[in-house]
Amino acid sequence: MPDLPTLDVLLPLDRPRLEPIAGEPDLIALFDATPGVRANMVSTVDGAATGADARSGSINNAADWRVFRVLRALADVVLVGAGTVRAEGYTALEVVDDLREARASLGLARDLELAVVSTSGDLPGALLDGDRPPLVLTVADNPSLGGLREAVGTDRVLVTGDGHRVEARAAVRALADRGLTRVLAEGGPSLLAALVEADVVDEVCLTWSPQLVGGPAGRILNQPAWFSPARPLTPLHLLHADGVLLGRWRVTRLGA
Ligand SMILES: NC(=O)c1ccc[n+]([C@@H]2O[C@H](COP(=O)([O-])OP(=O)(O)OC[C@H]3O[C@@H](n4cnc5c(N)ncnc54)[C@H](OP(=O)(O)O)[C@@H]3O)[C@@H](O)[C@H]2O)c1
Repeated sequence: MPDLPTLDVLLPLDRPRLEPIAGEPDLIALFDATPGVRANMVSTVDGAATGADARSGSINNAADWRVFRVLRALADVVLVGAGTVRAEGYTALEVVDDLREARASLGLARDLELAVVSTSGDLPGALLDGDRPPLVLTVADNPSLGGLREAVGTDRVLVTGDGHRVEARAAVRALADRGLTRVLAEGGPSLLAALVEADVVDEVCLTWSPQLVGGPAGRILNQPAWFSPARPLTPLHLLHADGVLLGRWRVTRLGA
């Protein structure tokens, strides 16, 4: 796998390097596939969650991609907000070929599900009309509920809130009820804030891209009010390649 960088392990110090090997056994062992909600985000060193193109694609890199593909391979479902789906053009998700065997050996389903949180139901036609439509987590008073049910199938529209808010805890429970217990939350900042606020996030993975971009970009959490109390994090590991730092923290749940 010559196009993927070797990762230096800065924390913990017991295994200093992770060479890219087909099937990524080292990264899979490091991250593991324990059920729970794992967030994965990227930020510049000055805290921007996007570059000037208002997307995260312009601030990520090969090291981030190496871990990103493994985290997807270890998940039952990617949970994402509609803003990110619209900005980044999400369609049905595929696990990369060289991680399929490792995924199967862990007992995960062949296909990786995509679950989109949306109040409005304003989702791209290319996503709704594809061969593998997403699960849609939405609210009872969504005006396009009927159209959504028609597009993705009644059983794939999960009503887990009302008014303008999907209840994050109910959304995670609805996924678990379908056997989707390994949840990879890929943002965006509004949904991630709702998940943290609801105390359902077990760990945060964050890649720092070695850039300063300035500009009006938001942070990885779109949360005007302070979390009260602030959520403590415990570092699990820190990787490095070519100036890129990739951290992983366990979140202390308030209810723990
Ligand atoms: N740096 C990173 O790692 C990263 C990761 C992901 C995204 N991004 C960037 O973040 C930007 C998008 O930010 P965003 O905050 O708008 O993204 P977002 O959280 O993905 O989307 C917000 C939208 O999701 C729905 N939503 C989220 N939480 C909800 C809740 N609790 N209840 C009901 N609906 C909810 C709503 O959709 P409706 O409007 O349809 O009702 C809301 O407008 C993009 O520029 C994207 O590139 C960065």
